[in-house]
Amino acid sequence: MKKQGIFYVVGVGPGDPELLTFKGARILKKCPVWLVPKAHANGESTAFAIASQMVDAADTEIVSHHFPMKHVHRNERPDAELLDAWQQAAERVVDILRSGRDVAFPTLGDPAIYSTAFYVCEALQLADADVVVEVIPGVSAVGATAAVARVPLCLGDEHLVIIPATFNDSRIREILSVCDSVAFMKVHRVFPKILQMLEEFQLVEKAVLIEKTSLDEQKIWTDLRKVGEHQLHYFSTLIIRK
Ligand SMILES: C[S@@+](CC[C@H](N)C(=O)[O-])C[C@H]1O[C@@H](n2cnc3c(N)ncnc32)[C@H](O)[C@@H]1O
Repeated sequence: MKKQGIFYVVGVGPGDPELLTFKGARILKKCPVWLVPKAHANGESTAFAIASQMVDAADTEIVSHHFPMKHVHRNERPDAELLDAWQQAAERVVDILRSGRDVAFPTLGDPAIYSTAFYVCEALQLADADVVVEVIPGVSAVGATAAVARVPLCLGDEHLVIIPATFNDSRIREILSVCDSVAFMKVHRVFPKILQMLEEFQLVEKAVLIEKTSLDEQKIWTDLRKVGEHQLHYFSTLIIRK
């Protein structure tokens, strides 16, 4: 019987292709097929753009798959459209793995932090319990943002929380009041609300916001009040260290 291929989830880092690990690049290079996530049906894939700057994908079979951007809430059944996207991706991947070919799934930053990859892995296990999955870590936008800002995320007995800024207000207030360091992802659409809360907690001076960390258009905001009417890019991460 033909040996089944392996499904590799590869974290490609936050944007600068040099932040892709050697191992990530090696795995991408050896996989004949990449499952490429797209947030918009006809849009570009950032993960693919990063990966293909380091690894020549000219001879790679690219299987593009649209994963809608929708919220997933713990202990609630995910949106049907999302479940469908994960399941369809899994079915496509299982067919390829059964033909004996390995599949790589390049994903932004580190796969362990708010990545679609783990939902796809779960759907894969349901589609075929024998599927072998390997996860290659990547540099998260949180680590890269702290590096650019030259701030530690946590030292000594401090603790760090990473959250999407789209959490409900009471949860954000609770986290701001309790945690030593907070890294907000997905801050672009809700920035005015977050700024208001930071004012409330007198934390504006403790914050640094970076747009497009590690990319050419990178912008560092050390005075959050200056963001004003500027429309932040989706690639924006905010770090607060008390
Ligand atoms: C769906 S999460 C993915 C996080 C990713 N798995 C990671 O480890 O960085 C998307 C969020 O990551 C952050 N992000 C990703 N790339 C970024 C970059 N180059 N600069 C700043 N933030 C970035 C933004 O907060 C964005 O809204």
